[in-house]
Amino acid sequence: MTYDLPLAAASRSAARPPGNANHPQGRRVTELMLGHIVALFDASGGCLALRLDNRRPDLTIVACQGDSGYRPGEAVASDDPLLGPAAAVGPHDVSGGSALSWPLLAGEQAIGAVCLRRASAAAPFSSQDLQRGVASAAFLAGVIESVRLRDEARRRLEDTRRQLLQSEKMASIGQLAAGVAHEINNPIGYVHSNLGSLDNYVGDLFRILDVYAVAVRQAAATPGRLEEIEALRRQLDIDFLREDVRALLAETREGIGRVRQIVQDLKDISRAGAKDEWQQADLHKGLESTLNIIASEIKYKAQVIKEYGCLPEIECLPGQLNQVFMNLLVNASHAIREQGVIAIRTGADAASLWVEIADTGCGIPPELLPRIFEPFFTTKPAGQGTGLGLSLSESIVRKHGGRIEVESEVGRGTTFRVILPRQRAAQGTGRPNEGESE
Ligand SMILES: Nc1ncnc2c1ncn2[C@@H]1O[C@H](COP(=O)(O)OP(=O)(O)OP(=O)(O)O)[C@@H](O)[C@H]1O
Ligand SMILES: [Mg+2]
Repeated sequence: MTYDLPLAAASRSAARPPGNANHPQGRRVTELMLGHIVALFDASGGCLALRLDNRRPDLTIVACQGDSGYRPGEAVASDDPLLGPAAAVGPHDVSGGSALSWPLLAGEQAIGAVCLRRASAAAPFSSQDLQRGVASAAFLAGVIESVRLRDEARRRLEDTRRQLLQSEKMASIGQLAAGVAHEINNPIGYVHSNLGSLDNYVGDLFRILDVYAVAVRQAAATPGRLEEIEALRRQLDIDFLREDVRALLAETREGIGRVRQIVQDLKDISRAGAKDEWQQADLHKGLESTLNIIASEIKYKAQVIKEYGCLPEIECLPGQLNQVFMNLLVNASHAIREQGVIAIRTGADAASLWVEIADTGCGIPPELLPRIFEPFFTTKPAGQGTGLGLSLSESIVRKHGGRIEVESEVGRGTTFRVILPRQRAAQGTGRPNEGESE
């Protein structure tokens, strides 16, 4: 069990999860409630201690008021006479006055304790006071427990969201793998068949070389032999073979080069899900890799027009930006029912760079436009879209300090514009997977 009601002081238990300490709202609630209890009992001070780590019995002071006898952030041993498990027994005489304390219970479990002090000038606490405070302590424990449950639910939701984003990434990489297999299969097919032809050609070449070798030896002795060789040369079409061997080799080399490029592109793209680092990168390169990978998704439906401007390299998370381009390009291709055009335009001004992906697809009705970046919003049939593409893309672009703009007209098409600052933005200086989905 971890209580997210934060410490009033900077010091805090090492077991607390980082990031939630000093949450101003939680601190205010704790202090307000403690203040009420202090006032209700005419106390000169009070404090609230919580068990921040359920693996350990000791408590930590999370809020103090007036003269409480404790300091915020202080660890309280489990045998402390005021706040330890014996706290329900009281009132206590303490140096300079009297004190009262109540355990804070969540069900059967003690989650902490609250303690009040009254200076010696005032009347000491009575056992009626102790009795009267049981309800306040129960109320305080209830509030603390509900804050904890709320934060736990929030954390679980956040974990689920992260897992979903991760599985969305994995799903899109899975879909890509099928496209990539198709793309690789094609060049491999003709490389394979070319190698078959080369095998025959080389066989023919060796045959004629053998005949030449014998002929050279016999030429002088047998006058008709040279014509015979000439006839065979014509039959095997050695002149054509000479040319075609070269063409075949060039084509084979190109095919193998394409396979190598596709494998490289796939490696670049799939890096998005694994470790991705801020680095200087050329966005055109990323666009080209992404286009190569999704070629099979697009090429039967859309003509791709590139109008690239001049882009400087920028410091970014290239794998993640490729994922954004991929989402936008796949969306554009899905929006085109039969045949259309996808235009990719890029440019830069003094402060920023932009990449525009415009399609001549179905467009987005104005009433749906405000919803497209919502997680899980999709108009695609079940199994085809999770509705996470744009939400993930937007969070990646935001992490870069940029934004995505969209314009759409039903029946005419849609244009998405990714705008990124030239200089890495302050909010983009976090860890690569921060805020994701990642
Ligand atoms: N270029 C586009 N043209 C028309 N509609 C679009 C376009 N891009 C996005 N949309 C609309 O926005 C919705 C949300 O897009 P998003 O990319 O977030 O999810 P998805 O494509 O439905 O699913 P996923 O990307 O998770 O596979 C889409 O279902 C579609 O209705
Ligand atoms: Mg999508």
